[in-house]
Amino acid sequence: MSQTPDWNQILLPVLLNTVYEAVTIVDSDGIVRHWNDAAEQLYGIPADDIVGKSILDFSWKSLMVERVLQDGVAIEHAYHEPRPGVHVLINTSPLVVSGQTVGAVSVEQDVTSIVRLGQELMQTNSLRAIPRSESDNQQNNPNPWAAVWGHSPVLREAVHTASRAAGTDATVLITGESGVGKELFAHAIHKMSSRADGRFIAINCGAIPKHLFESELFGYNPGAFTGADRKGRQGKLELARGGTLFLDEIGELPLDLQVKLLRVLEEGTYYPVGSDTPVEANVRVLAATNQELQHLIEKNEFRRDLFYRLNVVQIGVPPLRERLEDIPLLTQRYLQEFSLKFNRPIPELNPEVTITLMRYDWPGNVRQLRNTIQRLVILSEEGHVHVHHLPHELRQDSAWQGLGTWDSQSNTAEQPAATDVPLGAFRNPAAGGQFFSLQGRHVTREDILQALHRTYGNKTAAAKLLGISRGTLYNYIQRFQIRSE
Ligand SMILES: Nc1ncnc2c1ncn2[C@@H]1O[C@H](COP(=O)(O)OP(=O)(O)O)[C@@H](O)[C@H]1O
Ligand SMILES: [Mg+2]
Repeated sequence: MSQTPDWNQILLPVLLNTVYEAVTIVDSDGIVRHWNDAAEQLYGIPADDIVGKSILDFSWKSLMVERVLQDGVAIEHAYHEPRPGVHVLINTSPLVVSGQTVGAVSVEQDVTSIVRLGQELMQTNSLRAIPRSESDNQQNNPNPWAAVWGHSPVLREAVHTASRAAGTDATVLITGESGVGKELFAHAIHKMSSRADGRFIAINCGAIPKHLFESELFGYNPGAFTGADRKGRQGKLELARGGTLFLDEIGELPLDLQVKLLRVLEEGTYYPVGSDTPVEANVRVLAATNQELQHLIEKNEFRRDLFYRLNVVQIGVPPLRERLEDIPLLTQRYLQEFSLKFNRPIPELNPEVTITLMRYDWPGNVRQLRNTIQRLVILSEEGHVHVHHLPHELRQDSAWQGLGTWDSQSNTAEQPAATDVPLGAFRNPAAGGQFFSLQGRHVTREDILQALHRTYGNKTAAAKLLGISRGTLYNYIQRFQIRSE
């Protein structure tokens, strides 16, 4: 008897039951040779009932494997609903020995939880919730935060901080990528403040030419400079009197104006251009930035003293990719909004579309999602939205490149291999491809609860989200005594 371990014998079973995907291995006759734990779960069929039998007898499975056995060509990222209510992404490869196809390996990823979100969304749609104009009308709605949609803990946390700050006259610095809703937050803070009856005046510091900025902000008196309006002009500080001044893209404010703004904030007075009489400023200042002000400070492009003065309360609005669970609600609301606007029926999203929306990393955040949904409503055909209606960047940047569909005849193997994005890698580059960054810290009960919440209790998906194995997840569930309902 040889002492050398037979690696293939040892490795294969361990490998099969370590991966998250359902793995099926068949021989050239379609007889099932391996059927792992995940396959048992996905299909609800124990290995004992299927190993040794022909997969071709199982109608839900036969076509895909049959095709691969026949053509000897791999199928990548095909969407497939093997039985009602189960949605998978499937990769199937032939096993080739000396040019002969001797079998096939099929790897399936359960994306049912994502699709279920989409379907729940559709059901809610059919109830026809109240359109935005009525539900969120700022005048009628006593709660200004109703306009900020989303239930994710990270968003609610930001809303919580913002509403605490709203009641005070404190300066607030709102940070976050473009399109995350910074201006929406600023507006809600204003509406919730004691200045709600005053005006909300926004200035985009990046959009006003440097030489006009001062007069824009401080206004000028009659005849202040050549070319000035003879009657003089009110500055934004004056227009916002008794209300709120929102300084968007504050990082773009020229340095000399940073000094002047700081003086207004510190002393509460300012001088209109061409005037030597100080005017009292009566505004609450909110500022927003999508840049790291710390970096600008290091490069001497932003004044540290102004930063501290603005940063009394900081609210970080998280990017959409860090709160993907908000996507269904936002999608639903925008589907309603634009269907109403274009007088079209609310379209139904194909499961592939829902999956793509959930897997995309949304560099343009909510603004990009809103535009995307608007497009989908416009392009929808007979109340349906298909993957080809999605904008190019969504299809290209997701795992759908090289998509092979169930009935497609295209040879996807010839296309460049798509970057395979596992379900859990809701691509958060900052978190190393994982939704949660658990590296270098302990997993908390809250992490586990959040992951289960985000995946609607699907443990396989939750484990992927956390970047841990199912077994490890079960250990944590036991250790933290989390009950599943
Ligand atoms: N949580 C949200 N709920 C509803 N609409 C949102 C939300 N976040 C952003 N939006 C919408 O997305 C778009 C961009 O928001 P905006 O506040 O202008 O982002 P930013 O100022 O961060 O670039 C707007 O149409 C806004 O109404
Ligand atoms: Mg903005």
